[in-house]
Amino acid sequence: MNAAVTPMRWVDGAPPTLELLDQRALPHTVTTVRCHHAADVAQAIRDMVVRGAPAIGIAAAYGMALEAHHHLRAEAAAWLHHMAQADAVLRASRPTAVNLFWALDAMQRVLAKQTGLGPAEQAQALVRAAQQLQADDVAINQRLGAHGANLLPQDAVVLTHCNAGALATAGHGTALGVIRTALAQGKRVRVFADETRPLLQGARLTAWELHTEGVDVTLITDNAAGHIMQHRRIDAVIVGTDRVAANGDVANKIGTYMVAVLAHRHGIPFYVACPTSTIDMAVPNGAAIPIEARHANEVRGYGTTSWAPDGVAVCNPAFDVTPADLVHALITEHGVWHRPNAARMRQWMAAI
Ligand code: MRU
Repeated sequence: MNAAVTPMRWVDGAPPTLELLDQRALPHTVTTVRCHHAADVAQAIRDMVVRGAPAIGIAAAYGMALEAHHHLRAEAAAWLHHMAQADAVLRASRPTAVNLFWALDAMQRVLAKQTGLGPAEQAQALVRAAQQLQADDVAINQRLGAHGANLLPQDAVVLTHCNAGALATAGHGTALGVIRTALAQGKRVRVFADETRPLLQGARLTAWELHTEGVDVTLITDNAAGHIMQHRRIDAVIVGTDRVAANGDVANKIGTYMVAVLAHRHGIPFYVACPTSTIDMAVPNGAAIPIEARHANEVRGYGTTSWAPDGVAVCNPAFDVTPADLVHALITEHGVWHRPNAARMRQWMAAI
């Protein structure tokens, strides 16, 4: 990824600002949205200015820091009330990616530890905690990338769905992090990127990230994935995830399940790049993962263009669940976890 482009940037100042790269405008326009309150960040998450499971978690953490700064003059009780409201607004922004709730829980623990301090010190502690989450995420993706790169042959062809890249994280990416690390190791990696209807994260974001870096990427329609698996050599499918349940079921961008079934049909390993912050042991299986339903207009057309009859009924689930038995391995920062199931997930998670 172009080193000058980053999905988010904290700017200390009066007032402090979270600058989000506006991912809705990519690839043709590079512009930012500036947030000053938790509600601005929640809106940006809902509107997909910032998206991707780890990135929305980190943005939400900064949202808490923004809110803390905004109410520095409030009495202690009022300040806590504002913080509780900010937490609730951010939690309501998108339901599926567990990283959002994981990051907000981390910020709550920071607040709980600082009870003796005044609002200014608490606000500073929240900024530092969010910055730490951001830095840790890059390091985690690099470790995950190194584990995953070992799975790829010297000359690899990978198919991916949606965008689990630098834009979806604090940097390097998860699925694209595996590809980046393999390339850095001197492997040859060619990528097929599904365009990923309806919001085109594959066409707009994955293709952009890889193409601007000079990676050999070929964009395909989602409908072409089966044909490509039938007629070309694909060594691996690698995708990201928004939440992995305690039995290893994987929620990810709508269409992922379809790709996993096709990979199974064609004997292609299906890998899920998964920082352990994306694992939710409190959810027993995929059926219990909340699946976001998004606006009908995202399917009726794109942007200001509509190609479907006005008012036609639409079903627009933003994610689907791939059952654990279709998953060859979870690629985590702690290693590659082969053939996830409930018993293995318990063992792996207990060992970290
Ligand atoms: O709706 P999005 O764009 O937030 O969906 C993103 C995905 O489904 C990603 O694959 C997932 O969040 C993993 S990002 C490392």
